[in-house]
Amino acid sequence: DTGARLVIAIDGPSGSGKSSVSKEVARRFGLAYLDTGAMYRAVTWWCLESGVDLADADAVVRATREVPLEMGTDPDQEQITVAGEDVRAAIRGDLVTENVSAVSTTVPAREVLVRMQQDVIRDSGYRIVAEGRDITTVVAPDADVRILLTASEAARLARRGKQLGAAASSNLEAQVVGRDAKDSTVVNFTSAQDGVQLLDSSELTMEQTVQGVIDLVIRATDTT
Ligand code: DC
Repeated sequence: DTGARLVIAIDGPSGSGKSSVSKEVARRFGLAYLDTGAMYRAVTWWCLESGVDLADADAVVRATREVPLEMGTDPDQEQITVAGEDVRAAIRGDLVTENVSAVSTTVPAREVLVRMQQDVIRDSGYRIVAEGRDITTVVAPDADVRILLTASEAARLARRGKQLGAAASSNLEAQVVGRDAKDSTVVNFTSAQDGVQLLDSSELTMEQTVQGVIDLVIRATDTT
């Protein structure tokens, strides 16, 4: 471990396996980890909690600027608090999931969160795996490795269902596909932009996908 900069940016739709894979890659390389989706979720939770009208874009932007959000970056210990309250479980609930697009499709709110995310990357000493929808293109277009992790719709639905287990709601398909459709209107995470490596995990196990990412990192940073 040389302590040299290593920013790994991973984007992809929901159910692509992004979070588990990104966390594991961070562990293997001894890097920090940032789940940017959790930030959109935390702001949504805060709006719902404090009675901010999610249909009022100005109010959403104001709430995003003022949210007392603290994000940890340890891949082994998720830490997300809003006003000191642990929101790890709450932000994964149906209510937040169904409303999060109100925040993620509000462009000025995105700008606030993008800046916060860039601060986290800088504070990590540029040694971090950051994952989301616009990391390779907007948050860290200068990342050392940029990956778009995809998976077929069938594979993504199966994974989300398994991940949620008994808690999977009956409208899982609408949640996954519908949310991606909404988010696609403001960020492109369905096709790889210039310099972004495409990794399709449909036929891969989690470990094979982690290996695939590691191979791309080694190839991108190999200076020999
Ligand atoms: O990855 P996730 O399901 O936790 O993301 C939550 C929501 O936030 C989802 O609707 C997509 C959106 N999002 C985004 O627009 N940009 C990001 N960088 C990360 C997430």
